[in-house]
Amino acid sequence: MIKIAPSILSANFANLESDIKTVEEAGADMLHIDVMDGHFVPNITIGAPVVKSLRKVTNMIFDVHLMIDNPEKYIKDFVDAGADIITVHVEATKHIHRLLQMIKQEGIKASVALNPATPIYILDYVLDELDMILIMSVNPGFGGQTFIPAIYEKITKLKEYLLGRGKSIPIQVDGGIGLNNIDKVCKCGAEIIVSGSAIFNSDNIKETIMKMKKADEINEDSNNL
Ligand code: DX5
Ligand code: ZN
Repeated sequence: MIKIAPSILSANFANLESDIKTVEEAGADMLHIDVMDGHFVPNITIGAPVVKSLRKVTNMIFDVHLMIDNPEKYIKDFVDAGADIITVHVEATKHIHRLLQMIKQEGIKASVALNPATPIYILDYVLDELDMILIMSVNPGFGGQTFIPAIYEKITKLKEYLLGRGKSIPIQVDGGIGLNNIDKVCKCGAEIIVSGSAIFNSDNIKETIMKMKKADEINEDSNNL
């Protein structure tokens, strides 16, 4: 069954605890936490202290998406704050292999994100280090953007690429996904869906998440996370 990771970027920052409880009760599989530094992306969000505070109010899996320059400097902070999965952008580091090893040595799951224009082959020599792959379907920086249509093919290609190499690394897709296109994203091979505005701006958050979770009956091999 498809896994849903609501992005708190579109939640009410004045009442995160309540919004988190709502998505947790609705059956969300993990909480997607978008960290932006105003350098790697043109927006600033939250840092490790907020993650640490949230850790005290929920047992949800914390899926921390780092959209920051020099991610090497901050891995330990986010691990100590309670991250369960850390996703780093290949475009944000000179040493992606070392960085992924650093995350795994902390005893948590390591994931890599590819911006829309970044080709899949960049993963060729880091596959053994990966617990998840995040395909960006918008240019990172903001919630509420439109899904880039070329990414459907990229997800399909990635699924084939992984199958060809005998890898069953779950594919997460992030940006511009809602009830209107989640079926198509899943049919291409996505197993974990990040969704911010479509969940938190909906009239009925619980119903939206439940509908999203049923959007996929095709991919059954997404139980690694
Ligand atoms: C974009 C973030 C996404 C974003 C998704 O830079 O990484 O996680 O919050 O939001 P929606 O679903 O509104 O595109
Ligand atoms: Zn994200």
